[in-house]
Amino acid sequence: MRWLIYGVAAVALIVAAGIAVLAVKVIEGGPTETGGLMGQPSVGGPFELVDGDGRTVTPADFAGKYMVLYFGFTYCPDVCPTELIAIADALDLLTPEQRARIQPIFVTVDPERDTPAVVKDYASNFHPQMIGLTGSPEQIREAAKAYRVYYAKQEADENGNYQMAHSSFIYVMGPDGRFLRHFSMGTSPEEIAEGLRSAM
Ligand code: NI
Repeated sequence: MRWLIYGVAAVALIVAAGIAVLAVKVIEGGPTETGGLMGQPSVGGPFELVDGDGRTVTPADFAGKYMVLYFGFTYCPDVCPTELIAIADALDLLTPEQRARIQPIFVTVDPERDTPAVVKDYASNFHPQMIGLTGSPEQIREAAKAYRVYYAKQEADENGNYQMAHSSFIYVMGPDGRFLRHFSMGTSPEEIAEGLRSAM
């Protein structure tokens, strides 16, 4: 029953996110600074986070690379692992040259439990190239805001365990740090790989 509730909540979030995107499209209308599709909302921007070794990182640390970002949490039972596996499989479908131009990044929305060591270990388990980022609650809040990521801590059970509700999109940023595109939940590794190839 609990998983059903999470499932329903996840679908509701996706629908809400879709409506939000549509609303932004209606409101903004015109072309974007990225020269992308009409009315694509601006996503991304400056952030300050902490990497797996405790170092402060900003987008400047990834300049020149295509950032492929995913926001989630390491205790996530299903959605995050599924999406991170999809990213990893997509990377493996690319040539080594293409892969070398990409920096896959997992950003936690659960900094309370996801310490630098935890995100480092978690991300690298999905793909050797993937790094994990965390930060203070404030740093995470700011980064999530920049990427229009929704997240909320759910009520803890009797053992103190809790889930994080969160939106689920894979974001692709260009070597100049600008938003290029996103992939919705459930996009296949083949589609992601093709999307990355055509974005490069
Ligand atoms: Ni998740």
